[in-house]
Order: sequence, then C-alpha cells, then structure tokens
Amino acid sequence: MEKKELRELSLLLADIVRDDDIVRHISALRNYHFETYTHCLRVCLYSIRLGYMNDVGEIRSLGRGALLHDVGKLDVPLQILDKKGSLSDVERKIMDNHPRFGFQRLQGPNYDRERKIAVGHHEHKKGAYPRTDSGRVLMPTALALEKRNYDLLDFVFTQIVAVADIYDALASRRSYKPPLKKDDIEKILSDQFTGDTVYVGQMLSLIK
Ligand SMILES: [Fe+2]
Ligand SMILES: [Fe+2]
Repeated sequence: MEKKELRELSLLLADIVRDDDIVRHISALRNYHFETYTHCLRVCLYSIRLGYMNDVGEIRSLGRGALLHDVGKLDVPLQILDKKGSLSDVERKIMDNHPRFGFQRLQGPNYDRERKIAVGHHEHKKGAYPRTDSGRVLMPTALALEKRNYDLLDFVFTQIVAVADIYDALASRRSYKPPLKKDDIEKILSDQFTGDTVYVGQMLSLIK
C-alpha cells in the first residue's frame, strides 16, 4: 500500500469512528459476538481499499456500510451464530434474515447508503437470500429499490462489500471450519461471487 493511501485510510477510519452512533453499533457487536465484530473490521478495511482501487465517490459511506454490514447479526441468537453443525430450517431462516435485520437497525437519513449495503451484501452471492416462507428468494436490493432511490453507487458498494465479505469468510476460522488455503479461496470466491469479476481479481490482489 502506498504511503498516501495508508494516510488517507487512517484518516478515513478515524473519521468513521468519530461518529458516536457508529461506535454504539460496533461496540454492541463486539460485546455480543466478537468473531462477527473482527470480521466487520476486516471487511471494512478490504472494502475501503477496493473503493480506492475503483476510485469510487462517497468512500466514507462505503466504509461505514462495510463496518456495519453484519449489524443484523445482533438479532440472531448466539446458539445459531456459534452452532458447529448444520443449521435446522428454522435456524437457517433466522440466520438468512440478518441482512434485513441490519436494514431495520440502520434507519434514519444518516444511514441511507449504509442500510442498502447491509440489506444487499448477500445479494451478489450464489443462493442469495433472504427467502420467503415459500422458499422464493427476496432480492434485498429490489426491496430497497422499491422504497428508496437505488443508484449505481449502491450497486457498486454492495458488490464491493460482498466480495470482501465472501473472501473474509473463506480466509477466516469459523466455528464450523478452519481458514481455507489460498488456491481454494480463489476457486470458491470466483464461483460464489455473482457480481463483476473485476472485484474478485482486485480482492485477491490485495492479499498477495
Ligand atoms: Fe452477512
Ligand atoms: Fe459478513
């Protein structure tokens, strides 16, 4: 990372955590589920770096949204978050709703882009969710589109956070799996991410 980018990144992160409301959300996550908290920090860093690589505007919103993308996991019981075996249908349904729970938590004008990132961060993944009771996939972006203006930047942001999210889930130890090796990460990331493949290449280049 270049010195200038590192300096910008530090300033941006300092700016993001100066917001008491953001700190309140992220502290709640840290106290509730430390693994999700550290995951959110890493996804935030990756997303901001991808944002710089793509020269996107409103990078502060991207960072804030990435930091809070899994805030909806506060509404998922710990026995589901930490379950080692596979989830039952009911547990899966609750877990799959965390993007929507996040959307509900991030209300108010200060969270316009952030809540769209939260609700859409699993949309660019194979088998996107959440689903309805009948199993039909509810496209969160479409949900957001219906209620708010949804623009190109929201589309780019949800893709950037999605690729960082999938990468980090594969590269990290979870209660149900060890961290994967680089070759496997590359293969699975390319397979699971349904957005623009440019972001996959950029994500992988970040960690070389
Ligand atoms: Fe998530
Ligand atoms: Fe996540």
